[in-house]
Amino acid sequence: MKSLIAITLAVLMSALFFGCAPDNSSSKLIGVAMPTQSLQRWNQDGSNMKAQLEAKGYKVELQYANNDVNTQVQQLENMITEGARVLVIASIDGSALSEVLKEAKARKVEVIAYDRLIMNTPNVDYYATFDNFKVGVIQGQFIVSKLGLDQGKGPFNMELFAGSPDDNNAKVFNQGEMSILQPYIDSGKIVIPSKQTDFSSIAIQGWDSGKAQARMDNLITAFYSKGRKLDAVLSPNDSLAIGIIASLKNNGWGTPQKPYPVLTGQDCDKPNVKAIISGQQSMSVFKDTRTLAAQVVDMVDSIMSGRPVPVNDTKTYFNGVKIVPSFLCQPVFVDKTNYQKILIDSGYYKASDLQ
Ligand code: BGC
Repeated sequence: MKSLIAITLAVLMSALFFGCAPDNSSSKLIGVAMPTQSLQRWNQDGSNMKAQLEAKGYKVELQYANNDVNTQVQQLENMITEGARVLVIASIDGSALSEVLKEAKARKVEVIAYDRLIMNTPNVDYYATFDNFKVGVIQGQFIVSKLGLDQGKGPFNMELFAGSPDDNNAKVFNQGEMSILQPYIDSGKIVIPSKQTDFSSIAIQGWDSGKAQARMDNLITAFYSKGRKLDAVLSPNDSLAIGIIASLKNNGWGTPQKPYPVLTGQDCDKPNVKAIISGQQSMSVFKDTRTLAAQVVDMVDSIMSGRPVPVNDTKTYFNGVKIVPSFLCQPVFVDKTNYQKILIDSGYYKASDLQ
């Protein structure tokens, strides 16, 4: 009889407990805000992170903002209202989030800047990215060795491009590139016929392929129409390289008499790896989004469980208000000679993706 009462009580209590248990779905909610679906990498970043966070039992709200700043701010506001505990943000305009992040801070939401630093606010807690300066160094060194500048060859004609002025990364890539190329420009071994070298005149708003194509068209018309040789084009990423290739192709490059110039990139997007295989683009820099996503998932999990958050750089990334503790992943050089090993053998792409 006693045991019957005990069982009945236990059943009653557990019914009471589970019936009244608070809905804790929002207490494990993580907001992930990505800039755009128009570029392959951000789709991979977003889906890798969602899958890895869900595997650890988190609920994930993943949003893409179509490269529109107001849309991204709105999405972040919604995530905060829904009770997100951590926001992971790949910003569109790194300086446009101060207000919404004040709101996040007020609600004790932790903020991780993803890939791109969030500028001019104290309310960003961590930054996870690749070593962006090193990306630029890899691109610069490639041009130097491909042209044979390091063996005293030259002079060569080159044109420079940079990424979106509202993305801090664009400036850091440029600093890395120029740390290698500037001495050759100064010594006259690299000639920039357009004389367009300062960041603002070479930057492409929104990392837009069409705008890069239009600028390359203008450069060709103004400086290369009388048969001047173009030896190299420095492109900081793959979306710009796509526009530059289109312009070169339309203007008659890609023949034995007029071969494509040395052309750099970054991201190893599928169309660009195909362009590397076919000889239109010379190299790209691989930033394995699986690695970055895994790092950020570890950061989120550490925050949520009160463990120290892993960082490996506390000196480099000053956002105008503070140095943001960062984790830098390593970028990897890719060209025709090693893409098979780095991209296919590693399982990142299938061979059929690149046909
Ligand atoms: C990223 C690059 C990307 C570019 C355009 C940068 O912030 O680091 O990987 O190519 O944005 O989306």
